[in-house]
Amino acid sequence: MPSRGTSHRGCRGAEALIEVRDAGVVYGAGGEAPIQALNRVNMTLNPGEFVALVGPNGSGKSTLGLLLCGLLLPTSGEVRVDGHATTDPAGRAAVRRLTGIVFQNPDNQLFASTVEDEVAFGPENLGLPPEETVARVEEALGRLGLRELRHAPPHRLAAGQKQRVALAAALALRPRYLVLDEPTALLDPAGREEVRAAIAGLRGEGIGLVLVTHAMEEAVLADRVVVLAGGQVALEGSPREVFARTAELRGVRLEPPLAARLADALRARGVSVPSGVLDLKELTAHLCRSR
Ligand SMILES: Nc1ncnc2c1ncn2[C@@H]1O[C@H](COP(=O)(O)OP(=O)(O)OP(=O)(O)O)[C@@H](O)[C@H]1O
Ligand SMILES: [Mg+2]
Repeated sequence: MPSRGTSHRGCRGAEALIEVRDAGVVYGAGGEAPIQALNRVNMTLNPGEFVALVGPNGSGKSTLGLLLCGLLLPTSGEVRVDGHATTDPAGRAAVRRLTGIVFQNPDNQLFASTVEDEVAFGPENLGLPPEETVARVEEALGRLGLRELRHAPPHRLAAGQKQRVALAAALALRPRYLVLDEPTALLDPAGREEVRAAIAGLRGEGIGLVLVTHAMEEAVLADRVVVLAGGQVALEGSPREVFARTAELRGVRLEPPLAARLADALRARGVSVPSGVLDLKELTAHLCRSR
């Protein structure tokens, strides 16, 4: 990513990171039976870090994603983006500039008549000089492999291509933090691979990435995994640490990755397998060595 301007600096002296402190969210406080979607959640996200957010349905993942971007405000506790509290009206513009989000369904996020216009929409609305908008659009299209589709109408594209356009549009705003809420959930296997590769390509770019996912094979690629259950952080650590705790994962209705399940089954039969095996390649390599 190109260097960032001074506009990305947070409050004076504030470190660049998102901090969620004791955050709670209650939905439906006005009338309907209130739902405590998040309860005393603590979490940090550094620029350049890749965090997978996993948990069973209704555990609060999307709610936390919205909190991180300031699109939803905590009912209790606080969320700070580079020092700006999301509840502080004076910091709202900075929070919007620093964060981005891509949702599950690309059809809900695309509205322009060409891919190029779609990607240009955000930078144009920031009031950037036209040459800066053009540069950002070119870069985002290039990074997502979309240059050849620039004149195509987004609604005519395949689902994986649409999701890449949504990612390009988010990146053209040059966020420091980007939340991806199940971006591959509605895609066919080919589209899913396309978008996973695009996400993998964002590593090392200095962007703090939060990937909400039900796919454990996506979560193992992250630097850190945060497991939500019942609106609280149930487990947190490196993929190796978290996915070795298979009993605790099952306790919150999460199926560990296939390699971890196989390793458990082998251990139950007396085969020695190290803890924290993440994929089948690793497991096979260990078994071959120990024969
Ligand atoms: N806008 C809303 N109004 C009322 N309740 C909501 C709203 N959004 C979410 N909830 C409730 O808050 C809880 C957490 O929902 P959330 O969508 O954050 O979970 P999730 O982990 O993203 O689930 P999923 O895996 O199904 O996407 C659930 O009980 C859900 O029904
Ligand atoms: Mg969700």
